[in-house]
Amino acid sequence: MSHIPRIRADRSHLPLVAAATGLTPARRPVWFMRQAGRSLPEYRAIRAEHGMLESCFDAAMVCEITLQPVRRHDVDAAILFSDIVVPLKAAGIDLDIVAGTGPVIAAPVRSESAVRAIPRLEPESVGAIGRAVELILGELGEHTALIGFAGAPFTLASYLIEGGPSRNYERTKAMMHGSPELWNDLMGRLADITIAFLRVQLDAGVDAIQLFDSWAGMLSVADYQRFVAPHSTRVLAEVAEYGVPRIHFGVGTGELLASMAHAGADVIGVDWRVPLDEAARRVGPGKAVQGNLDPTLLFAGDAVVDREVRRVVADGDRAIAAGATGHIFNLGHGVLPGTDPDVLTRVVERIHSL
Ligand code: CP3
Repeated sequence: MSHIPRIRADRSHLPLVAAATGLTPARRPVWFMRQAGRSLPEYRAIRAEHGMLESCFDAAMVCEITLQPVRRHDVDAAILFSDIVVPLKAAGIDLDIVAGTGPVIAAPVRSESAVRAIPRLEPESVGAIGRAVELILGELGEHTALIGFAGAPFTLASYLIEGGPSRNYERTKAMMHGSPELWNDLMGRLADITIAFLRVQLDAGVDAIQLFDSWAGMLSVADYQRFVAPHSTRVLAEVAEYGVPRIHFGVGTGELLASMAHAGADVIGVDWRVPLDEAARRVGPGKAVQGNLDPTLLFAGDAVVDREVRRVVADGDRAIAAGATGHIFNLGHGVLPGTDPDVLTRVVERIHSL
């Protein structure tokens, strides 16, 4: 690859970067998956006027929506407002993001000809996202990191093959096991798209990236290792040269934590099912952990939230004692749309006070 990453300023003063790289952060970093979105009235006001995909391809709107939760909550990171299917759309795949459902693919990918027709991602087609990153970096405070992200090949493949969200992933697993060569061809193409999308964000200056393999927890360890890990490993390896922390996350991945860690990220995201200290033992030493407050408990009242925040912080400390290089506080999955944003603001205050 003739790709030359741009020389980056040292970002280790950012609490998120410090926690991800084994340094001592000035405070315990916290951000929330899906912090930008329907929990915020200011987000709903924008979306009342503009479609989801329209918003994702407008640099000024991406910048505004990305900054909304940072202004409110004093989180230590902004996450780029986008979606895992944005690079697929930009590459020319006909899809939509349907409110209350998620991504819906016009022509699901289930044949050799459909796999062969998956286009490459031309970086210019996501130029608005690169411009949005530059706008955000111009406005973000000095101590707030900007996280870029992409969907991992498996999670993208599951949407393309099933045509939308799925309960059992039967068509995905049928292709994986029944046509392994076709599966690998599809996963290779999606890995290329993911790498290209991450590079656009990294070239524009994001401070960290998160690779979302949200639905990998549906797989056995054996299937994950054989059919998924090689492709996620390649994605993570091909962006390593930027030297920014790489976070890898999925839901229900308790049994996969060691295999996911092996794919090469610097930080492993953990859902609420496994305590962080146990997660750190499964992940192995030398990596940071991120997580893992159960997002549904944000509805349980202040006393419960306070107790759970303190428990997760204590588990995070035990994770570090067990060999993790750091703890980034987060939820175990995304903020649910009905969450009271003031509860999130208080969670951030509480974590920073501990
Ligand atoms: O604040 C942030 O976290 C950044 C924004 C973000 C969105 N999607 C915005 C969004 C991120 C990081 C994503 C990633 C994403 N998209 C994932 C991986 C993260 C995860 O939750 O596991 C996945 C699986 C998707 C696919 C997707 N897109 C789903 C499942 C949904 C929700 C469907 C619904 O309406 O409940 C979407 C739509 C989506 N992406 C919304 C937002 C704010 C809601 C759309 C709306 O506002 O109508």
